[in-house]
Amino acid sequence: ADPSTFDVDVWTLTRFVTETGRQAKGATGELTQLLNAVMTAIKAISSAVRRAGLAHLQGLAGRVNVTGDDVKKLDVLSNELLLNMLKASYGTCCMVSEENEGLIVTPQDKRGKYVVCFDPLDGSSNIDCLASIGTIFAVYKRVSEGEPTEEDALQPGRDMVCAGYALYGSATLVALSTGAGLNFFTLDPAIGEFILTERNVRIKPRGKIYSLNEGYAKYFQPAVNHYIDRKKNPEDGGTPYGARYVGSMVSDVHRTIAYGGIFLYPANQKNPEGKLRLLYECNPMAFLVEQAGGAATTGTQRVLDVRPRALHQRVPFVVGSPQDVDEYLAFVDKYR
Ligand code: AHM
Ligand code: MG
Repeated sequence: ADPSTFDVDVWTLTRFVTETGRQAKGATGELTQLLNAVMTAIKAISSAVRRAGLAHLQGLAGRVNVTGDDVKKLDVLSNELLLNMLKASYGTCCMVSEENEGLIVTPQDKRGKYVVCFDPLDGSSNIDCLASIGTIFAVYKRVSEGEPTEEDALQPGRDMVCAGYALYGSATLVALSTGAGLNFFTLDPAIGEFILTERNVRIKPRGKIYSLNEGYAKYFQPAVNHYIDRKKNPEDGGTPYGARYVGSMVSDVHRTIAYGGIFLYPANQKNPEGKLRLLYECNPMAFLVEQAGGAATTGTQRVLDVRPRALHQRVPFVVGSPQDVDEYLAFVDKYR
């Protein structure tokens, strides 16, 4: 191999996080340790996701793997990986997972100062058709003293310290922000490291793509349908927007950041709060999009300003290029 094609001063995610951590005042390295644990879990999930089809065949042969254990479902496996790695990082005091109803409290001897809210495998209805899925997480500093409580997890998104998602797509990518911009890292399977591939990502001020499950049009509020109709039939006779919807939020939001445009999961008559969960789906995505210069709203307020009431609370979610989100809000206003 040509040695000149080999980057001998490569920026890995670990290096990036260590470096930014070192520059922060009063940093103890606890967040770096915590993020390393998350990345280990993400690499293992990525590997499991990519082997899922084969593992399934193995399952068909006898429904158990070679060691005699039941083949674990991917979402369960992902959840256990994250919980175990995070506990072992000594960086958390409690966690919230889409897969667990209650607050997960870290064993006392392993506690640190952070709270992590995560969706271990989002878009899991896409697993069986091999479409992209993802992992989403948000990190906060604890606010209570003594035993961790739900109050630690029910902080508004604007107080987030760090957020990220992993997209298991045609490559495995991690989007990460510690509040100083958004960066993309791509997994290099040859060395098992995430490599910085896009620094200080910025979303377009306006895009050309809208993304939502339009099948629910019958149940949407008139403002949503009016807005969508204007995307398809622009009043000025201009070019209509393109439509894209994977049905896997990490893919849909990642595309929105990469190409610009708008992603919506609004309220509908059947789901008056929408479907997506505030703590581990909407808030981290809103934080990351804002870090790229985009916007995220529930239709009535900035997502990051919502005061959470419950661990698994849902909110209507509209996110993307700032001008697209503003235009949506103007339609909402017209119908108020
Ligand atoms: P999940 O957490 O059960 O996987 O559901 C969340 C997913 C999101 O990734 C996606 O945006 C949404 O559900 C799609 O829902 P719908 O099928 O109603 O369009
Ligand atoms: Mg989910």
